[in-house]
Amino acid sequence: MFTRRVAVVGTGYVGLTTGACLASLGHQVVCGDIDAAKVERLRRGVVDIVEPGLAELVTEQVSAGRLSFVVGASSAVTDFPDELDAEIVFLCLPTPMGVGGVADLRAVEAVVEETRHLLAAGTVVVNKSTVPVGTAARTAELLDRADVSVVSNPEFLREGSAVHDFLNPDRIVVGCDAAEAAERVAALYARLGAPTVLTDAASAELMKYAANCFLAMKLSYVNAMAELCERVGADISDVTEGIGYDRRIGQAFLSPGPGWGGSCLPKDTHALLQVADAADFEFRLLRATIDTNTRQRQRIVDKVRHAVTGRRAGSLTRVRLGLLGLTFKAGTDDLRDSPALAIAALLRQAGAELVAYDPALVADPNNPDKTVPGMVDGMIDGVPLVSDPVEAAQGAEALVVLTEWPQFRQLDWSAMAGVMKQPTVIDTRNLLDPATLRRAGLTGIGLGRREAA
Ligand code: UGA
Repeated sequence: MFTRRVAVVGTGYVGLTTGACLASLGHQVVCGDIDAAKVERLRRGVVDIVEPGLAELVTEQVSAGRLSFVVGASSAVTDFPDELDAEIVFLCLPTPMGVGGVADLRAVEAVVEETRHLLAAGTVVVNKSTVPVGTAARTAELLDRADVSVVSNPEFLREGSAVHDFLNPDRIVVGCDAAEAAERVAALYARLGAPTVLTDAASAELMKYAANCFLAMKLSYVNAMAELCERVGADISDVTEGIGYDRRIGQAFLSPGPGWGGSCLPKDTHALLQVADAADFEFRLLRATIDTNTRQRQRIVDKVRHAVTGRRAGSLTRVRLGLLGLTFKAGTDDLRDSPALAIAALLRQAGAELVAYDPALVADPNNPDKTVPGMVDGMIDGVPLVSDPVEAAQGAEALVVLTEWPQFRQLDWSAMAGVMKQPTVIDTRNLLDPATLRRAGLTGIGLGRREAA
């Protein structure tokens, strides 16, 4: 079997998925992280993030001797079991949104500085993090090693299905100005049989932004279309089904919602806008995509206000609302840039009294090590969390579904209705069946639905 010695620096969801999946493809992988306690947990097979199949894959690959964990970037590039050095080093580091939407590259720069003298001649450094165009060139400059190549190999993993996405990619993108290094990285994935785009580093870097910004645009378009549906008495589900059969459009990523969020789309849309500004290009389409998304949050608040008070300008002061879902999407416990939290903040500003339930944000009695992310004194961003959905419904004048957790469909809606003050559900994900709600005595208000005008 084809085996390379691969170091992965950073064990977030991208790094850990990359490490475990490359090991499962037969490579010898050492993952390094600066957080010693996390490394210790990973060695025991304890994975902190919610990512289906990842913990099992990590345990399996550690037992097979193909995957190990070390503290620090330097150890990751030098500590291979056979005392050899890494041939390929993946940088899977956070690139948060810095001042003015510019990606903050300090983590990447620090690791390059720390490891540049340790890399063996011929090593390929691969940037997997989403980084601004020109970062591969900048990394090469910082490395200042003519015998080390830098490759851009962006990831297209979705949180909540990262392992599946890694092992079933739509495409592999490898960008490098040195063909031999690009081919070496592409060969790591050969067993996956995916279409591979070999290009220059700048195009690969831009491709990642182009993909995420296109997806954001698709969603802003759908959310705007849902609003239009309400105004003209059309139904967004029928409209998206109809347009989705056009293969040029496709059915995926056409569900309206409270706005797109998470650690990627918001950051990447702002970062690409910065790239465009710096290149003196007025990217109006992208700006409108972001503005539409910001407006979507207020639109949800207005919808709640109207549903609860019957008036467009009605007051939400001291109105008790139960929120169902706080994470930015289902299948994850990630709260970063969650539209649910942004909407909760707007509702609180309007005077509403909130209580929230989210199945991913409930303490696990079997795993006391694991804390609920973002929780302080039983609250997330000032919103009290409860561990039972019926508690969230207790005395509520409305329930607001903000995350598309499939288990919400199976809730005992009659029991929920029984404890509510007013029988109203605002379903910002069009997740629930309106007939089921009706049978439970509840009025369901979705987005862009015929009955929701
Ligand atoms: C996104 C991209 O989908 C991945 O391809 C990319 O690799 C990743 O960013 C990244 O750059 O690392 P992710 O942030 O995990 O993945 O989340 P998505 O599944 O794309 O969802 C983004 C947002 O759009 C969420 O808030 C979600 O609820 C919303 N969404 C998604 C909708 O409102 N409707 C949809 O039909 C789909």
